[in-house]
Amino acid sequence: MYLSYLLFIFFSLHNGLSTTCPRRCSCDPAQSVQCYRATEIPREIPFTTRRLYISHSKIKQLQITDFRRMSALEELVLSCSGTEAIENNTFKALSTLKSLELYKNQLKQIPTFLPSGLEILKLADNSINTLHATDFEGLMKLRVLDIRNNLIATLPPSAFSSLCNLQSLILDGNNMESLSAAPKLPRLKYLSMADNKLNSFPANFFASFQNLQFLSLSGNFLTKVPLDLPKSLLSLKLEKNQLKTIRLRDMKHLENLSEFFLSENQLSSIDGAQLLPNLTTLELSKNQLHALPPRLPSRLQKLDCSNNHIQRVTAQDFQGLQDLKHLFLDNNAVSTFEAGALQQCAQLSNLALEQNLLISIPLRLPDTLARLDLKGNDIEDVGEQELKDLKQLQVLNLRNNKISALDRKVLEYLPRLRHLYLDGNPWNCTCDLLRTRRALVAKGTDVRGGQCAAPAESRGESWMSSKKILQQCEDNLSSMEGGKEDRKKMKPSEASSVGANTDDDYYDYELD
Ligand SMILES: *[C@@H]1O[C@H](CO)[C@@H](O)[C@H](O)[C@H]1NC(C)=O
Ligand SMILES: *[C@@H]1O[C@H](CO)[C@@H](O)[C@H](O)[C@H]1NC(C)=O
Ligand SMILES: *[C@@H]1O[C@H](CO)[C@@H](O)[C@H](O)[C@H]1NC(C)=O
Ligand SMILES: *[C@@H]1O[C@H](CO)[C@@H](O)[C@H](O)[C@H]1NC(C)=O
Ligand SMILES: *[C@@H]1O[C@H](CO)[C@@H](O)[C@H](O)[C@H]1NC(C)=O
Repeated sequence: MYLSYLLFIFFSLHNGLSTTCPRRCSCDPAQSVQCYRATEIPREIPFTTRRLYISHSKIKQLQITDFRRMSALEELVLSCSGTEAIENNTFKALSTLKSLELYKNQLKQIPTFLPSGLEILKLADNSINTLHATDFEGLMKLRVLDIRNNLIATLPPSAFSSLCNLQSLILDGNNMESLSAAPKLPRLKYLSMADNKLNSFPANFFASFQNLQFLSLSGNFLTKVPLDLPKSLLSLKLEKNQLKTIRLRDMKHLENLSEFFLSENQLSSIDGAQLLPNLTTLELSKNQLHALPPRLPSRLQKLDCSNNHIQRVTAQDFQGLQDLKHLFLDNNAVSTFEAGALQQCAQLSNLALEQNLLISIPLRLPDTLARLDLKGNDIEDVGEQELKDLKQLQVLNLRNNKISALDRKVLEYLPRLRHLYLDGNPWNCTCDLLRTRRALVAKGTDVRGGQCAAPAESRGESWMSSKKILQQCEDNLSSMEGGKEDRKKMKPSEASSVGANTDDDYYDYELD
């Protein structure tokens, strides 16, 4: 509200300077006009205008007379304006129009008689429920058609017969349950039908899309992967369906497939991924896997098997995966992690193992790791053997484990460590732990330390910031961090409240 008020003031002032620009619009020298809060298409728009953007307005109807003078218009965007109806032929004479966007309105049908030079048509977030055979007639130059979030239930192939140059078709968020024949779209590269109610496709539905590279069928009710997927595919999204099994042997014609997204299905196993030689990303999060997929393809860079029931990680699982950079195994039941299991992954930088059942940090992890997440396991000891090679490690998360002691020597092995999460562990706040604290402060590492569980008199104190426990160790440590300030005579209660900073605030760091 406030922003639109400001914009209003701005445009009103602007109008004072420029006589040719309509009220509530701003006109720039590059022939662009932007208008807000209009109740009709402004009459006085310069006829040289090439781009017209209108939004947050109330324009129920569009008619031929609205655009009659705009003979140079190339791009028209009218969004969030409550537009319900468009008179026949409104856009027909706009022979220069290349891009028409009418998203977030209340249109019930595709505007009729669109100009034949149109290349981009975006009608997302309207109430269009039917496609007619004539809707896209003559649009031989159309490259992008976006009708996501409408109410379309079927795709009559005849509606698409003119669209010989269509490259991108977006039908996400409609009401499609089943489709008959496929539209013929030989140039189509990008097809997205996510979030519909599709449960199957007729045989050979996909065969006609000879150049398709990207296909999304996520968020449907599919129980089977269509078998006729085009060979040209590079990226396939089948997340959030009801797949129970998948035979990758039936997909080995997808020789260029690079990204395969299968998260949030009901897969209990997956086999044959090595038959997809160009696969670089495989996402299998939130399935029912009890083991890692065997024989993974050797070019894999990202593997997400988080949120399954995997119990073991062995060297065999990761044999030959030299390109693997990101491995997500969090939220499983991993209790066995073979020493050196990831040694062949000589580029691994990101390893997520949080929320598993590990009782120790896996041995001989690749020295390329930059992030290691072990939050929420049952780790008791942090030894130098586990960490001593991790020279690249920047983020180490050991939150919510069972660690009570941490030798400061261990941290000396981690020269690049910037973030260390240690809270949620039952710390035994001995004077030794305070030596570790001193080493961490000296290193400049950002530490979430958490609270002492022992000894009794320190329970609940924050060991990274409490001055109370520091005082208790005063005589035991020759020179304390923070120097004199720490030694000021304070009552213990005061001291601990001074120390209560953001140390124990819970927050999760971003993985990028
Ligand atoms: C608009 O065009 C459609 C399709 O040609 C036609 O059926 C309809 O009668 C026309 N509407 C008006 C008001 O002329
Ligand atoms: C696979 O990719 C290569 C290289 O980009 C290309 O030459 C080849 O035609 C593609 N194969 C298929 C089946 O599209
Ligand atoms: C896919 O793999 C095959 C065989 O390994 C190779 O010839 C082809 O060029 C690859 N395609 C791409 C796009 O990398
Ligand atoms: C804490 O450490 C001290 C000294 O090592 C030890 O005597 C004590 O038993 C430990 N307390 C707990 C609860 O582990
Ligand atoms: C400090 O050291 C003395 C003896 O060296 C010991 O009695 C005392 O318990 C230690 N204090 C703490 C808090 O560990």
